[in-house]
Amino acid sequence: MADARPFHWEYTPEPIARELFRVEGGRPLSGTVAISGAKNAALKLLAAATLTGERCRLTNVPEIEDVRVMVQTLTEIGVVVDHPEPNVYEIAAGDVDWLFVPLEAAAKMRASFMLLGPLLTRFGRVIISNPGGDRIGRRPVNLHVDAMRAMGAQIDYRNGYYFATAPGRLRGSEVRFPFVSVMGTENALLAATLADGHTTIRPAAQEPEVDDLIAFLLKMGAQVKRTAPDTIEVDGRRRLRGAEHRVTPDRIEAGTFAIAGAVTGGKITLTGAPCEHLGAFVDVVGRAGVAISCGTDTIEVDGSALSERGFRPLDVVTAAYPGLATDLQPPVSVLLTQADGTSHVHEAIFEDRLEWLTELRRMGADVDIEDGHHATIRGRTPLHGAEVDISDLRAGASLILAALAADGTTTIHGAHHVHRGYENIEGKFLGLGARIARLAEGNDTTNP
Ligand code: EPU
Repeated sequence: MADARPFHWEYTPEPIARELFRVEGGRPLSGTVAISGAKNAALKLLAAATLTGERCRLTNVPEIEDVRVMVQTLTEIGVVVDHPEPNVYEIAAGDVDWLFVPLEAAAKMRASFMLLGPLLTRFGRVIISNPGGDRIGRRPVNLHVDAMRAMGAQIDYRNGYYFATAPGRLRGSEVRFPFVSVMGTENALLAATLADGHTTIRPAAQEPEVDDLIAFLLKMGAQVKRTAPDTIEVDGRRRLRGAEHRVTPDRIEAGTFAIAGAVTGGKITLTGAPCEHLGAFVDVVGRAGVAISCGTDTIEVDGSALSERGFRPLDVVTAAYPGLATDLQPPVSVLLTQADGTSHVHEAIFEDRLEWLTELRRMGADVDIEDGHHATIRGRTPLHGAEVDISDLRAGASLILAALAADGTTTIHGAHHVHRGYENIEGKFLGLGARIARLAEGNDTTNP
């Protein structure tokens, strides 16, 4: 295997295709929408496929920008990735040419750091860019690095890169996290599958996407068990085999469409929807007065209470699973603008996830952001069309929801953020009767 290729410390990002959404709101959505595979499962499954030299096949993979970036990153290090048909990816990591994950990948997507565990445990070394550095935001990866060190890795940090080696093999260990981290758990889990001996990970994240990863690893021959809700135990194996797996459905996409039905006063059915993964969310929107019911793999949402008696205000707090997902806080915040009274939102997981509410304010929402973790939303305020900017994926999808509920036309800049994580979002909304168009910036004269 070749050595890591030379670095290029200077980084000039590729130009992004600037796009916007133009939405004409005020129409109740109706009909059926199919939920895609989960982004936050698919990205980890793609990383996990590098644990073996045998071919792996993933189906129900969402066709989104983050998957494209992960596939490109894998291809660049020498992994063969085939895409025989939409939503199907086949990965063969017989050998890799470069044990180097560059800044280009990390700058585009934090989940590129998911390659640390599998490459280190299988090949004994990797150089990987820090996705949490000052250049691109504040999210640290110290827990991932500490977990690898607990398993015997030597890791130095220089010039924005982690240089990780595992002389011999990683060794099974007690991995203790100070608090729950989804990707920290997943990185430790992937590393432990090929480590020498027994690993216990605690507290382990309980998100359904972690269990989807465990299901895939079991098919690959790994010895993994969730022995308590917050504990995962792994007996390391010498090698894993190829496997086929269908990506679990995206509970965050499902929640987003459920709120779209509610805030437009519409009636929609989600198919292939993982109601069993949405307990806290279903409870919250049900308490707000949205009629939401679960079938075997469908969710029915009826937002007619909006015009009949209005939604009810709520105090909500985000939490690790099984609590209310932080990724569903922005859609729920849009719902609360349509509740009669004062609601409080406590974003307990991330510090920077309430800032987008200033954009919602431009559309007529009455919102106070008290600090990085707390906001007050007073309703019910009619929303109106405006010109707004998307700062991140979940905020972007939520501005579309607000625009669908608003009177008039909204122009939403920064559409590329949304394509990172939602498959064909405008097509799905069009299928529900929305008036939405995706246009190139500067070429935006067409109305939806
Ligand atoms: N944290 C640390 N050090 C670490 C890792 C995390 O301090 O080494 C902190 C974070 O800053 C945060 C908390 O721990 O305050 C929890 O973060 P976690 O590690 O659980 O988040 P993550 O694994 O980086 C995943 C999802 C996020 C989702 C969170 C929480 C993926 C690719 N990302 O991130 O999804 O919000 O879990 O559920 O799985 C999204 O899809 O839009 C998204 C941001």
